[in-house]
Amino acid sequence: MPKSSFANDEHAPLKEVGRSKGIRIGSAIRARPARDVAAIVARECDLLTPENALKPAHLSPARGKYRWSDADRTYKFAKSKGLAFHGHTLFWYKRPPPWAEETLGGRSFADATEVYGDFLRDVVERYPRAVSWDVLNEITGTNGLLRDVFPLSTFGVDLVAELLRRARSAAPDAALVINENDLECGASDCAAKRRNVLTLLRQLKERDAPLDVLGVQGHLNSSKPPDTDAVQAFFGEVEALGLDIYLSELDVRDREFDGDDLARDDQVAGLYWTFLTAALQSRAVKRVVFWGITDAENWLATGKGDGHTRARPALFDRSFDRKQAYYAVKEALSSAPER
Ligand code: G3I
Repeated sequence: MPKSSFANDEHAPLKEVGRSKGIRIGSAIRARPARDVAAIVARECDLLTPENALKPAHLSPARGKYRWSDADRTYKFAKSKGLAFHGHTLFWYKRPPPWAEETLGGRSFADATEVYGDFLRDVVERYPRAVSWDVLNEITGTNGLLRDVFPLSTFGVDLVAELLRRARSAAPDAALVINENDLECGASDCAAKRRNVLTLLRQLKERDAPLDVLGVQGHLNSSKPPDTDAVQAFFGEVEALGLDIYLSELDVRDREFDGDDLARDDQVAGLYWTFLTAALQSRAVKRVVFWGITDAENWLATGKGDGHTRARPALFDRSFDRKQAYYAVKEALSSAPER
C-alpha cells in the first residue's frame, strides 16, 4: 500500500473524494448514534442506511403492525443533514417478521406474494425519499442457487422476481438492489456464491425482473482475504448484465491479525486498500458504504458481533480519530477511475 498522497488534503471528507469520481460514500448508522458518530457520518458521507431499524423482524412484530420510530429517526436525521437514505432491508431469511412463516406457509404463490407484498409496500411507501432499497438480502446459496430456507425454498426465483416487481411499483424511482455476502474471498464457498449469483442474475433478466444493482457487502476477513482477480472478473460479468454495483457493508474482521493496535491497524488498512483498489477499477461500482464507520459503533467491535473486545474494524477509532484505514480508503478512492 503506498503512503497516502492526501497528506496535504487530510481534511477533505471522503464524500468529496468520492464525488470527484462519481462514487457515493455512505455508512450504516444506529437509531441512536453517539453525537460524535452522527457528526462523522454527516461530515464524511453522502448517504446513510439504518443498520437494524428496517429489518422486518424489528419493524413488524405482527402482520399489519409496525414499530416505525427507530427508522423514522434515522430518516429524519438523513433529511436534516442533506444525506440520501438507503433502505436495508425488505427481505432477510435471518430476520423474517415473526408472522411470516405462519402467515405464508401452506399458501399459494399468489397469496404468499400478496401478503408479503403488502408488508413491502407499507414500508417502502413510508420512506418515499429513499434513493434505493435492498429488496432482498443474502438470498443466494453456496450449494444451491438460492438458500434452502422458507419461503425461498418453496417459491424459488419466481418469488425473488415478484418481490422486485412489487418494490418497483411501490417505489418507481428508487434503485432496487439484491444485497449479497461472501462474494469477495478466494475460498471455494465465495467462488460458488459468485457463480450462483451470476446464474440468479441471468434468470432474473430472463424473467424481466426490475433489478438495478448488485450489493456486494464487503465484510472483509483477516482469515479469508479477498481474491482481487476473481472480484474484478466477477464485476465485469455483473456490469455486462447491465447492473450497477454497490459496495454495501464494508468493514474488516481483524480477529486473526497479530500485534499491537498499530500493527493490526496497518493490516486492516492493507485489506481495505487491496480490496477497494481492485474493486473500484470497475466503473459499475457507484457506491462505497461502511457498515459502521467508527469502531465505537460497528457490529464487530460492539455487542455480540465478533466476541472480540480488541476489534478495530472501521475507519475511526473509539476516540473518533482517523485510523490508517481511513487514509487507505481515501488513497484507493483517489486513484480510482472516474465514472
Ligand atoms: O437492541 C437489542 C438490545 O436491546 C439488547 O440489549 C442487545 C443484547 O444483545 O441486543 C440488541 O439487539 C442486537 C442488535 O444488533 C442491535 O445492536 C441484536 O441482538 C443483534 O443480533 C443485532 O445484530 C445485527 C445483525 O445484523 C443481526 O440483525 C448487527 O447489529 C448488524 O450490524 C448486522 O448487520 C448485518 C446486515 O444486516 C446484513 N449483512 C451482514 C451484517 C453483519 O452481520
